[in-house]
Amino acid sequence: MGEKIQTEDYKNREPIIVADNVTMIFNIASERFNSLKEYFIALMRHELRFKEFRALKNISFNVKRGEAFGLVGTNGSGKSTMLKIIAGVLEPSDGTCTVRGTIAPLIELGAGFDPELTARENIYLNGALLGYRKEFIDEHFDDIVDFAELRDFMDMPLKNYSSGMVARIAFAIATITEPDVLIVDETLSVGDFLFQRKCEKRINELIENDNVTVLLVSHSIDLVERMCDRVAWIEKGDLKMLGPCTEVCEAYKHYRK
Ligand SMILES: Nc1ncnc2c1ncn2[C@@H]1O[C@H](COP(=O)(O)OP(=O)(O)OP(=O)(O)O)[C@@H](O)[C@H]1O
Ligand SMILES: [Mg+2]
Repeated sequence: MGEKIQTEDYKNREPIIVADNVTMIFNIASERFNSLKEYFIALMRHELRFKEFRALKNISFNVKRGEAFGLVGTNGSGKSTMLKIIAGVLEPSDGTCTVRGTIAPLIELGAGFDPELTARENIYLNGALLGYRKEFIDEHFDDIVDFAELRDFMDMPLKNYSSGMVARIAFAIATITEPDVLIVDETLSVGDFLFQRKCEKRINELIENDNVTVLLVSHSIDLVERMCDRVAWIEKGDLKMLGPCTEVCEAYKHYRK
């Protein structure tokens, strides 16, 4: 297990992620439509009414280089939304989020994959989405397949893969190089315990040796407690608590609605 960074050390470190007053508003249709036709008629007549839903409310925090930063919170609290904003997949409605460096996001299982293509083709597709050149994937192909332990399944279409198998491929590609920021959203939870252990080891190596910053979202508080230095607890869109891992996890575990 990696040595955790002492909290005081952070003050001197360079922030790699700066979330400044991030607010995310989703417009959700407030009426139900029985068909797409009805929906389009309402749209044409400008009769569509939307309700504003604040998924994140004025969230601010910094993550320092080399830090393992956790996000906890109950279902639907805005964790994945926050990660998508950090990864640049979503634009915040208000506030800013800046990231200095390259990001390898493992956000939604299967995002960046095409189920009709084989695993082999998907490794190239996903690699391209992460910005890797074909020659680079050629060079690292065996490492990816070995890490995922799926050599016999390379020519099978991804739609026939189990969710754990997809997670194996996704994790193997994302960690083949050292990104500046590795984002892991629950991806590991579908892997079996052996693979989870292997991923944890790999993440710890990245943190220790290469100064990779890790953002981890997990409902496994044990995992968060083992891996993270600091944790932000986001509850129903609000930043409820931000601080050292043990303190925040302890408070979160005692949370009653
Ligand atoms: N594209 C969208 N349109 C409308 N609402 C959305 C959209 N994406 C997320 N939301 C809403 O924002 C809220 C936060 O969702 P989010 O996925 O960030 O939660 P989460 O903390 O990751 O939850 P979980 O622990 O279940 O993964 C939820 O109420 C969700 O319904
Ligand atoms: Mg989520």
